[in-house]
Amino acid sequence: MSIAEKFVNMEYGPAPEDSKEVAAWLGRHGHRFQHFIGGGWQAPAAGEYFDTLDPSNAEKLASVAQGAAADIDAAVKAARAASSGWRALTPHARALYLYTIARLVQKHSRLLAVLETMDNGKPIRESRDIDIPLVARHFYHHAGWVQLLEQEFPEYVACGVVGQIIPWNFPLLMLAWKIAPALATGNTVVLKPAEFTPLTALAFAEICQEAGLPAGVVNIVTGDGSTGEALVKHPDVDKIAFTGSTEVGRAIRAATATSHKRLSLELGGKSPFIVFEDADLDSTVEGLVDGIWFNQGQVCCAGSRLLMQESIAEALLAKIQDRMSTLRIGAPLDKAIDIGAIVARVQLDRIRKLVDQGVADGATCWQPQVTLPARGFYYPPTLLSNVHPTSIVAQQEIFGPVLAAMTFRTPAEAVELANNTVYGLAACVWSESVNVALHVAAQLKAGVVWVNCTNLFDASCGFGGYRESGYGREGGREGLLEYMEPAWFKNAPLLPAVKTPAPLEPESEEDSSTPGIDTPAIDRTVKLYIGGKQARPDSGYSMEVRAADGRLLGEAPLGNRKDIRNAVEAARKAVAWAKATAHNRAQVLYYSAENLSQRRDEIAHRLAAVVGEKQAAAEVDLSIERIFSYAAWADKFDGAVHNPPFRNVAIAMNEAIGTVGVICPREAPLLGFLSLVMPVLAVGNTVIAVPSEAYPLITGDLYQLFDTSDLPGGALNIVTGYTSQLLKTLAEHDDIDALWCFGDEASAAAAKAMSVGNLKQVWTNEGRAIDWFNPRLAEGRWFLEHATQVKNIWVPYGE
Ligand code: NAI
Repeated sequence: MSIAEKFVNMEYGPAPEDSKEVAAWLGRHGHRFQHFIGGGWQAPAAGEYFDTLDPSNAEKLASVAQGAAADIDAAVKAARAASSGWRALTPHARALYLYTIARLVQKHSRLLAVLETMDNGKPIRESRDIDIPLVARHFYHHAGWVQLLEQEFPEYVACGVVGQIIPWNFPLLMLAWKIAPALATGNTVVLKPAEFTPLTALAFAEICQEAGLPAGVVNIVTGDGSTGEALVKHPDVDKIAFTGSTEVGRAIRAATATSHKRLSLELGGKSPFIVFEDADLDSTVEGLVDGIWFNQGQVCCAGSRLLMQESIAEALLAKIQDRMSTLRIGAPLDKAIDIGAIVARVQLDRIRKLVDQGVADGATCWQPQVTLPARGFYYPPTLLSNVHPTSIVAQQEIFGPVLAAMTFRTPAEAVELANNTVYGLAACVWSESVNVALHVAAQLKAGVVWVNCTNLFDASCGFGGYRESGYGREGGREGLLEYMEPAWFKNAPLLPAVKTPAPLEPESEEDSSTPGIDTPAIDRTVKLYIGGKQARPDSGYSMEVRAADGRLLGEAPLGNRKDIRNAVEAARKAVAWAKATAHNRAQVLYYSAENLSQRRDEIAHRLAAVVGEKQAAAEVDLSIERIFSYAAWADKFDGAVHNPPFRNVAIAMNEAIGTVGVICPREAPLLGFLSLVMPVLAVGNTVIAVPSEAYPLITGDLYQLFDTSDLPGGALNIVTGYTSQLLKTLAEHDDIDALWCFGDEASAAAAKAMSVGNLKQVWTNEGRAIDWFNPRLAEGRWFLEHATQVKNIWVPYGE
């Protein structure tokens, strides 16, 4: 046999990575681990332990403490005790700790990689070349941020004590994504690793000790979902950061609603992998190997839905099958293995069940001829073709090495199919035409879009989802903001509670003359403003609006569920606004400021009856300025181009979220309304606003203002009524993408609790008072950041 023939035919020999060092490390710990609390090891309060297995052979690696509420409490207390000292360090001193951790991760990288592979089942090639280097990179990058923090975020402070819950698919990497930004911004941490993969987090605890990190800054409590739940519910935690399933994310959202805890969620995905007919098919197939077979497909952003342009579908499927036949599956410590073990039996069963359901739904299942190891949890690479877009395997996250393939004809159809899930984490677009790729990328509902590449991550680039894939970003500047708050906001006083209106039968328009009320004083009746037109309320009822002295000023319609539905429909149709250029949006806003200044005196005069002359004059004057500010911002709140350490640029775009419901504050009917609605509109969202319940008659002035300012119909809709009732309808509406609620504490809690259904982004004032008259607090980036979400589009360069 010639050497050339040997190269083609030669079988792989075994190339196992040495696990001696890990065995010694486990031995040193007696194969038994306690919690890491307050800088040392602490036995679990209930004395319970659970086993963590090596999924490649189902053998026990160690027993690990099962955290109970008492352990969480001890860890939170340690984190709280460490908090002020950690924050008081100079940025440089804190930066040095993060830098030291990065160095130590590199020093122990082989131990960490082998341990990760043994606990998780992922190929050593991946843990060695991807997971652990990215962990180090994350700490280096954030060590840099600490150094710059005071210059770059002068008004911000740390949230305080942060609870972090991470999954099992990238155990140490997810830890780094959570701990590095939290520490960088001055928080202290209680982290709960996933029950299947706690070991690298415990090795990290040792790294914290070796780095001399002050006791209590990082605490690790191991355990299952109940331990996570105790952390989520602990009253002295200021923020929860979670990565895991959408189902648990939803439960966490509900559990934190009535607290002031900040929350960021990185949840599931069903990411499209779109291939156009002009794509380089060989590169595409290699990209796909990374897209769906990386980490056995247990990746939240796995390209699990293959969308192929019809003309190349057959050829592409043939190439994929050829390539699948060469994938090597087996013991993950073998350096020549492509696909390792599934993390646990329960996950393996979940994959099998979903594939069976897909086949029952009509999909064709193809798997290469492979021999799976006799022990351990393995699943072969799997291709499901002829998948119907509504099939369970096209809609649900499988979290396994299973690709569901579908076809499309046109770019428009590709976008429609791609966006046809409740998720929006990531997407891949393969095309040699930069025009097609970027045009499609811009239309995808996904936090990350990889053009002609797959699964690239970097600490400088935010990662996170749209829609039910969660909210908040990890990495980049935007990731830091998840762990900080404006200092003034953290300490702002609470607004007085607003009495919810008694459930009285509202009066009809025809029957509004209550005895004893001076009816002739009614000088105004307003209507709702929907789709650019004044509209009567569906209920036919209205509410009385009174001046500060009790005088009846007029009546405002009582909007209901149907009116909100109409408003959402109108907002969804207002594509002219969503597609308008930033320059055009700015022009419309400038024009409305101009129109407001022309009507300054009459509006101030009417408003004075409710808020007094002085405030009314100030509100109108500042409103003109505020609109000007957001007109100015409209074409300046742009993104960034990141330079990750690959041959890629990542274009970070600030995108509009979609349709946003806005509950406006009571206390400043005009200025409060515009302070919230303007930033939302300026960046291209459409709005359904509920004006101040104290003075909904402002609607009459507002619709005249916008009617004369060329704002396209439907871009802004105004529904008056009882705030508590409209808030519920907005929160529960599945076609509203985000909700801003600025009222008392109970409204903030209600907004969060009632919107768990579609996990819409919710931003509230937490019931705190905002000084709308102080532009430093009441306008600018903080508002714009909440009105947008960052999409990172990765574009490769070079040959
Ligand atoms: P999971 O969401 O239950 O677990 C993630 C983490 O949350 C773990 O640390 C777990 O202990 C903790 N947890 C569970 N219940 C909790 C609760 N009520 N409160 C607080 N923390 C809680 O994910 P699981 O069961 O391991 O996997 C199930 C499915 O979830 C997978 O098949 C996959 O589809 C999806 N998943 C998605 C991930 C992602 O990165 N998007 C990661 C892991 C799983």
